[in-house]
Amino acid sequence: MEHTINGQPTADASGQPLQPVIWAGDRLDLLDQRLLPEQIVYLPLTTAEDVWEGIRHLKVRGAPAIGIAAAFGVYLGIRGVEGDTAKVLAEVNRQAGYLATSRPTAVNLFWALDRMKARAEALAGGGEAADAEALKAAMLAEAKQIQAEDEETNRLIGEHALTLLQDGFGVLTHCNAGGLATSKYGTALAPLYLAKERGWDVNVFADETRPVLQGSRLTAFELQQAGIDVTLICDNMAGMVMSKGWVQAVIVGTDRVAANGDVANKIGTYSVAVLAKAHGIPFYVACPMSTIDLGTPTGAEIPIEERSEDEVTQGFGKRTAPHGVKVYNPAFDVTPNEYVTAIITEKGVVTAPYGDHLRKLFG
Ligand code: MRU
Repeated sequence: MEHTINGQPTADASGQPLQPVIWAGDRLDLLDQRLLPEQIVYLPLTTAEDVWEGIRHLKVRGAPAIGIAAAFGVYLGIRGVEGDTAKVLAEVNRQAGYLATSRPTAVNLFWALDRMKARAEALAGGGEAADAEALKAAMLAEAKQIQAEDEETNRLIGEHALTLLQDGFGVLTHCNAGGLATSKYGTALAPLYLAKERGWDVNVFADETRPVLQGSRLTAFELQQAGIDVTLICDNMAGMVMSKGWVQAVIVGTDRVAANGDVANKIGTYSVAVLAKAHGIPFYVACPMSTIDLGTPTGAEIPIEERSEDEVTQGFGKRTAPHGVKVYNPAFDVTPNEYVTAIITEKGVVTAPYGDHLRKLFG
C-alpha cells in the first residue's frame, strides 16, 4: 500500500487519515480536499475570509470539520482587532455572523459559531477576560477545545456503533463521514477503524457519491490507507450489491438531525435508505450530539444547499452534458425518520420514537 503521495505521508502511524484542520501556531493549515486523492496540499489560512472560502468551496467539508474550521476562523477574524473587550466581543459576533453564511445545511457550523459567541459573551460580560488580549486568547483556546472534544466524541460514537456490527459484516456507506470530515476517526467510519483494531474482518462498500465524489475520492482513499477492505461502487450499484446479500448494515453520517429524527445527509442518502428498507438491512446514522437540532421540528425545515450546475455538467473538468441543459443540484437530501433504524451518538444508540428519545438524550 502506498502511504505517501508526492513524498507526503497519507496517514499517521495508527492508520488514521490526514487531519483536515491543523492549528499551526499562527495560522490554520487546511487540507485541500478538492485535490484528494491525487495531491496532498495544506493551505495556510490567515483570515476569516480564507476560512469562509475554504468552507464554501469544499476545501474543507463534512459537518464537524466545517464547524471546527469556522471556530478557528472566528479567532483569525478577531486577532488583529485593536480596542477594548467590548470591541473584540462585537467583532466575534460580526465574524461569526459572516462565517455562518458559508454553507447552510450542516448545523455543526452554527453550533460551533454559537459556542464561540457564548464563550466570548460569558467572558466579556462576567469580567473574566479583563482585557481584550485575554479574550482573544480565550477564543483560540475555545476553537482548540471544540476540535479536541470532537476527537473524543467520535471515539465514543465508534464504540457505540460497534455494538451494532459483527465480525464478517459487509457495510455500505455513502459520502465521507470519516476522519477527513472530522478531527479524527469520523462518525460513520469510526466503528470501522475500531473493528480493524480488534482484528475483525469487515468489508466496506463505498458509494462513489455523485456529483462531487466524496465516496471515491475521500472514503475509499482513507479506508484503503488504513488497510480496511473497501470496494468502490457507483451510486446506482447499491441496490445490486444489497440484493446479492453482501451488505448487513448501512451506516452514514449526517449534517443535521431534526427533532423528529428526520436526517439530512449527502444527496443520495435517501435512496440508499429506501433500498436498505426494501432489503431488510438496518440503516444507521452516526453523529455527534452537536448535529442534532431540536430547534428544527422536521426535515422539511432543514435548509438544503443547492450548488453550481457545473458540478453536474462538468465535474472535474470534462463536460458531460449538453450546453444549456436544465440542472437541479441539491447537495443534500432528507431521509424520513421511518427509514432510520437507529441514530448513534456519543451518548449511546437511539431508536424510534425519535421525538421523545432525542429530547431525553439532551436531558
Ligand atoms: O458536502 P459535504 O462533503 O460537506 O457533505 C458531507 C456529508 O454529507 C457528510 O456525510 C456529513 O457532513 C457527515 S460528516 C461526519
